[in-house]
Amino acid sequence: MRIAVGSDHAGFSLKQELAAFLAEGGHEIEDLGTTGDERVDYPDFGAAVGRAVASGSSELGVCVCGTGIGISIAANKVDGVRAAVVHDVTSARLAKEHNDANVVCLGARLVGPEVAQEALHAFLATTWQAGRHAERVDKITALEHDRQGAT
Ligand code: RB5
Repeated sequence: MRIAVGSDHAGFSLKQELAAFLAEGGHEIEDLGTTGDERVDYPDFGAAVGRAVASGSSELGVCVCGTGIGISIAANKVDGVRAAVVHDVTSARLAKEHNDANVVCLGARLVGPEVAQEALHAFLATTWQAGRHAERVDKITALEHDRQGAT
């Protein structure tokens, strides 16, 4: 799978580790930065990952900032993106099963590399359940039309 990764300075180190972990697992990495510890703004990287997923350039996105929260809010502003902050195996599994998340966001100041890797592994190993969850996800997608002013 091609996976877009992005982070701000707070998430840089964990993003590098997760990119290496994913590459070892045979995935192709689209690294959208940041490239070091210098202060940057997380919305720029959340948007870049979101656009990569929404355009089909990558199938999945992985975002890291200090908490995973800010970068997820930014990614979720891109139409077609369902970004979920996950903290562990269970939240990662449910983000796929119930929400069909296509961007996984992690907080480098909240979870360590092993927990983050386990969460990503769980996400990748889980199947979207669809069924009763599909209508709810469709309702989320419909909100994008509200935002565009469509009826
Ligand atoms: C950067 O200091 C921090 O605010 C950012 O990484 C993130 O946690 C925002 O949600």
